[in-house]
Amino acid sequence: MKRREFLGRAAATLPLLPLVGCGGGGGGTPSPNPSGGGALPTGLDLPDLPRLANEGGPGTFQSQITAARANVQFASGVNTEAWAYNGVVPGPLIELNEGDQFRVVLTNGLAQETNIHWHGLPVPTEMDGNPMDTVPPGGSFTYAFTVLPGTAGTYWYHPHPHHISHEQVFRGLTGMIIVRSGADPVPGDIEEKHLFITDLRLDDRAIIPDDTDGDLLNGREGNHVLVNGRERPVIRIRPGSSQRWRIVNGTSARPLKLALQNHTFVVIGTDGGLLASPVEMGEVFLAPAERIEGVVTASQAAGTSVPLLALPYDRQKIVNPSVSPQITLATLAYTNESPLASSPLPGALRPIAPLGDPRAIQQATFTRTAPQGATTFGITGQLFDPSRVDLMARAGQVEEWEVTNLAGMDHPFHLHGGQFQVLSRTRGGATTPEPFLAWKDTFNTVGGETVRFRVVQSFRGIRVFHCHIMEHESHGMMGVLQVI
Ligand code: C2O
Ligand code: CU
Ligand code: CU
Repeated sequence: MKRREFLGRAAATLPLLPLVGCGGGGGGTPSPNPSGGGALPTGLDLPDLPRLANEGGPGTFQSQITAARANVQFASGVNTEAWAYNGVVPGPLIELNEGDQFRVVLTNGLAQETNIHWHGLPVPTEMDGNPMDTVPPGGSFTYAFTVLPGTAGTYWYHPHPHHISHEQVFRGLTGMIIVRSGADPVPGDIEEKHLFITDLRLDDRAIIPDDTDGDLLNGREGNHVLVNGRERPVIRIRPGSSQRWRIVNGTSARPLKLALQNHTFVVIGTDGGLLASPVEMGEVFLAPAERIEGVVTASQAAGTSVPLLALPYDRQKIVNPSVSPQITLATLAYTNESPLASSPLPGALRPIAPLGDPRAIQQATFTRTAPQGATTFGITGQLFDPSRVDLMARAGQVEEWEVTNLAGMDHPFHLHGGQFQVLSRTRGGATTPEPFLAWKDTFNTVGGETVRFRVVQSFRGIRVFHCHIMEHESHGMMGVLQVI
């Protein structure tokens, strides 16, 4: 099957990977968690993410990141060629403190251009890994910015070059960021766990295959959903105690409707950090790129074991439409220790003031067109053009965005530059106000839905906004916002 025109440029810059048959364009997504040649070990303990070492002194974070090919063992004893940050998939955890002077040198060891976007962090535009600011093969770039006060939260980083970011991500280039504050209200005896969730597709020779044509429309799903690089790991918890889980949906396209059997999540934070007060939820929905902080309490007997599930969900896929099957992401296993309760959460976490009345309204519409019969997703009828300004904003003023999805399937919307407050969602003529104030940088939209949010951009320059299904973003479902 011939690849569509817009792939031509990406293909031309591909490094010399072994060519892999990918089952033909018409093939469905492989079923999750298969056995066979590409089988991965399951039931191992959840590993801690390796940390990016800080080579700087107090008040600074200085380090180096190299993006390059690496052999990684997903299946036991079998090497898989991946593209990795510092040789590990997922990339190293970057742990920062509010106020840090951040200075990280990216070296591009790939055979194509790359860059790093600090998803969700408010950083100057020229340091934010815009699609137009790339590092050539063999080149390097120093990302330098201040980690602003008030930004404590859970973020992530990934490449953002136009046309090719989806492939860099599915081959392994993503990692988690945590920003800490000196005044964290969550009691210190609540153990913290990190769950960085990614979606890996391996063929039966344990090779990461190319995207199919169906992937370009649906967004790529893998056949192994991994937590910290491991399939169905075990998270151990002492009976009676609580754990704070920072969960990142780092998949290319898979929404996660999370549920922990017989337990609830006490949600304390979203994309941009803590909520005003904890909210108990039975299920947590995370679109690709969304994050949550949830407290889980081991309220049952020693020895209890329950699955962390991704429940079935229908994202209205275009090719081979189907409801995603329920999968087990991890197991929560109680130890046999004597019960020990953790300190209770405070009722108030931090104040969140609602952003006031807007001075301007911005509108963006997810659209779907079919030039020459090939479906293409765009924004307001257009494909991304780095030299065109689609919307203009003023730094420092409250602006209200209205995002409408006229493109059929689910598309997660993301805006660069920092955090916003979602006001309401309108579906089928009914408007539902957001149930609580939260700082967000990404939200899901279903076909026909309109979502309103308010935001203040604090840096001047060029930002982008886009669908966070990686294949859609890469192929043009993105617009340019100029902040003056
Ligand atoms: Cu995580 Cu522009 O994206
Ligand atoms: Cu981003
Ligand atoms: Cu999309």
